[in-house]
Amino acid sequence: MDADIDRIVLTEEQIQGRIRELGEAISRDYGDEPVLLIAVLRGAALFVADLSRAISSPVEIDFMAVSSYGSSTKSSGVVRIIKDLDESIEGRHVLVVEDILDTGLTLKYLLKNLSSRSPASLEVCTLLSKEGKRRVPITCKYVGFEIPDEFVVGYGLDFVERYRNLPYIGVLRSQVHAEHP
Ligand code: IMP
Repeated sequence: MDADIDRIVLTEEQIQGRIRELGEAISRDYGDEPVLLIAVLRGAALFVADLSRAISSPVEIDFMAVSSYGSSTKSSGVVRIIKDLDESIEGRHVLVVEDILDTGLTLKYLLKNLSSRSPASLEVCTLLSKEGKRRVPITCKYVGFEIPDEFVVGYGLDFVERYRNLPYIGVLRSQVHAEHP
C-alpha cells in the first residue's frame, strides 16, 4: 500500500500534534458545556476517534452519511442523506467533524439541513481544507491544515474505498489513478 504513495503531505506526528491543538482549542471554547460531535461518514470516522479523545469537555458522538451524486472525485453539490442522526439536536451544541473541505458544496447542504433542526450552536471542525477549490463560502471555526489542490488519501480519506487506514496523508502515484479511471 505504501508503494502506491508518491509523496507524504502530512506525517502521522504532524496530524496527531495538530489534533491535540484542535482538542485544546475546542475544550477551551466549550468548557463544561456538553458538545455533540457529528462526524460525516466515512472519511471523518478516524479523525473523530482521535479528536474526541483530545477534548476534555463532555462529548457525545453521532454519525451521518451523505452521498454526493456523480463521480467519487468530483463534488456535484447534490447531496443525499444515506444515514441520518440517531437523536435530535434541538438545543444542543453541535460541532460537525469533517475530513476534508473541498468545494464546500457537501457541507453547505449539511449545515443548512442541520441548522433547520434548531441546535443551540453549530460549528465546523475540518482536518483539511483546500481553500483554493471553494465554490461556496463556509465558516469553519476549526481547521487542521490548509493544503494545496491535490487529491490526497490516508487517515480516513480514500481512493475507491482504499487507503483510509494509512496513518499519514499522501498523494497517490499517478499510475494508481490511471488503473482506476
Ligand atoms: P466538497 O463537497 O467538494 O467539499 O467535498 C468534500 C468531500 O469530497 C470530502 O468529504 C471527501 O469525501 C471528498 N474529497 C474531496 N477532496 C478529496 C481528496 O483530496 N481526497 C479524498 N477525498 C476527497
